[in-house]
Amino acid sequence: MKRALITGVTGQDGYYLSKLLLSKGYDVFGLVRGQNNPKIEFLRRELPEVKILTGDLMDTSSLVRALNASDPDEFYNLGAISFVAYSWENASLTSDVTGKGVLNALEATRIHVGDDIAKVRFYQASSSEMFGKVQHVPQSETTLLWPRSPYGVAKVFGHYMTINYRESYGMHASSGILFNHESPMRGPEFVTRKISLAVARIAAGLQDKISLGNIEAKRDWGFAGDYVDAMWRMLQQDEADDYVVSTNETHSVREFLEIAFDRVGISDWESYVYQDPQFFRPAEVDLLIGDATKAKRQLGWEPKVDFPTLVTLMVDADVERVRNKSV
Ligand code: NAP
Ligand code: GDD
Repeated sequence: MKRALITGVTGQDGYYLSKLLLSKGYDVFGLVRGQNNPKIEFLRRELPEVKILTGDLMDTSSLVRALNASDPDEFYNLGAISFVAYSWENASLTSDVTGKGVLNALEATRIHVGDDIAKVRFYQASSSEMFGKVQHVPQSETTLLWPRSPYGVAKVFGHYMTINYRESYGMHASSGILFNHESPMRGPEFVTRKISLAVARIAAGLQDKISLGNIEAKRDWGFAGDYVDAMWRMLQQDEADDYVVSTNETHSVREFLEIAFDRVGISDWESYVYQDPQFFRPAEVDLLIGDATKAKRQLGWEPKVDFPTLVTLMVDADVERVRNKSV
């Protein structure tokens, strides 16, 4: 039985990756931070097979202890402060967790494995936010990085540190440059879930408007369940490498709104949407569209869920939750 350690196990991707690894027969260990993290209850209920360890990306010794306790074959570093808007207000904290936390995870792994450097395969959750003010369309593994937020800058640090540990110590350390991926498990602070939840509440007569920022921004949106499979495939390769994971399509927030409202039978959606300056960002990433040719060629990976299906499944899940009063 293979063993895996996941940081960020209480997040969206941690949920889908745990399910995938458990379905493959892995022994899964999840690192949870804080002395009384409210998400532990959800984890225990939804994924009871996951073994919980405590620790924090800012505390290297806690990571070493987690590695010693789990003795994993694969270490997936998904933990991060991941909300871009928050990163301007908390730039130093974001740099510590999302940036230096990667170094801490790599260093803890190096300490744990000692001379047996091939003992643990490492995955770093890099991001298309690193492309920022895009220097090429579409973006691939070789596109120049030009981050536009403290979060993006921190992710660039973690990305290059992962490559550096691979090149310096021969670690099997791979970096997945994942474009936006969503699901019904997405946090409500992100625009897709904010919309799906609001649409469900508006359809139920519980809310009368939604306030948003820049609805012309374009993203390459995929389904999280598809994307965790790409993470796993990276760690099954003989050689570690970096891969873009994307759908190779781009859509605006406006298009997301149209399909989401249409799903609940509302066609005059613009009368429900208000622009609020507080949701505009100091520097915007206007357009993301990936080129996942390498992932397709080398990993045999392709997305299965297309954009309209993704929007529909998110809206349907929130309609159901509103009906059951579970949100
Ligand atoms: P998420 O839902 O925001 O989850 C983030 C996870 O990180 C949570 O489990 C959180 O724990 C944990 N965390 C935060 N601070 C930590 C700390 N100091 N020490 C240890 N863990 C900490 O994010 P996600 O969407 O699953 O994304 C997973 C990873 O992929 C993140 O690194 C994100 O930046 C990256 N990424 C995401 C996307 C995307 O579109 N989803 C795209 C590219 C890259 P709590 O639950 O306790 O807060
Ligand atoms: N969150 C949010 N809320 N975004 C809004 C809003 C709003 O009210 N109105 C417009 N937007 C726009 C943002 O300005 C941005 O252009 C776009 O919607 C997407 O925002 P988010 O859903 O917050 O995601 P993100 O693209 O900034 O970041 C996500 O994807 C990255 C990968 O590219 C996060 O998951 C990051 O962790 C991830 O690395």
